[in-house]
Amino acid sequence: MDMTINWILERVDESPSTNEDLMARWRSGLLWEPVARLALRQTAGRGRMGRHWLSSPQKALTFSIAYPFKKGIQDLSGLSLACGLAVIKGISSATQISLDELRQKGLGLKWPNDILISHKKLAGMLIEGGQLKSDEATWLVIGIGINLSDSASLEHEIGRAIASLSELAPENTLNSDMLWLEILKELAIVMTNFETAGFEKYQSEWNAWDLYQNKICQIHQQDQLQLEGLEKGVDESGCLLIETSQGVQKIISGDVSLRVAS
Ligand code: BTN
Repeated sequence: MDMTINWILERVDESPSTNEDLMARWRSGLLWEPVARLALRQTAGRGRMGRHWLSSPQKALTFSIAYPFKKGIQDLSGLSLACGLAVIKGISSATQISLDELRQKGLGLKWPNDILISHKKLAGMLIEGGQLKSDEATWLVIGIGINLSDSASLEHEIGRAIASLSELAPENTLNSDMLWLEILKELAIVMTNFETAGFEKYQSEWNAWDLYQNKICQIHQQDQLQLEGLEKGVDESGCLLIETSQGVQKIISGDVSLRVAS
C-alpha cells in the first residue's frame, strides 16, 4: 500500500492557533484534501482540557494536520497514541539518532498524548474534529507542539521545567522544517494504516515507550482523584490499564490526566 499522502503544505509566520485555523475551515466545509499547517509563532495556542499551549517563537515546532478518514470516530480509538509514536520516529529520522539511543536518553510516552524526556514534557498533541454528516468523511485535526530549544522565560511562565529537543541533539544540527517533514511522513503511515486497521498493531510498540508502566499512578478528572493503581500499559484499543485492589480498570481517553503518585 502506498503510505504517502500529498499534504497541502502551509507555513505561515503567525497564527492564533493552527488547530483553530483548520477547525474553522472544517466547520465551514472548506477542507478537501489533507492539509498540514505550520505557524512559526502561535499567539493563542490551545492545549488539552481547555488549557493554553504556550510556546516561544523559533523555540518550538507548532503545526496541525487535517485528514479525512473514511471511518467513524468510534473506529479510530488509539489514533492519538499512534501519532505519538510517529513523532518519535520523525525525531529519530531528523536527528539521525536511533530509536534505541533516544530511549536511553529518556525519551518516552505518557498516556494519552504526551511525549516526555524523563519526566519533563517535550511535546503535546491535541486532536479535534469529527463527522459533520453521516455520509461524510471524519475529519480529524491533529495539532502537535514540540519544544525545540530551552526557554527560561517559558519555564518561568509555565512554572515548571520543560524538556526540549536540544537535550537530545545539538541545536545547530536540527532543522525544524526537516523535522516537520519527517514527522509528516510518519504521520502519513499512521493515517493510512488506520484506514484499514486500528490500534492493535501499535499496542506493543506503544507499551515499549510507556514511561509510567509498572509505576503507581493516579487518574485525575477535573483535578479530582478518580483512582490509583499500578499502570499496566494500554490494551488493543489504546485504553489505559490500571491495576487496583478491585481488579484492572480500563481508562478511556477523555478529559482525564495521569500522574505519578508521590
Ligand atoms: C497539550 O499537551 O495539551 C496539547 C498541546 C497541543 C499544542 C499544539 S501546537 C499546534 C496546535 N495548535 C494549537 O493551538 N495546539 C496544537
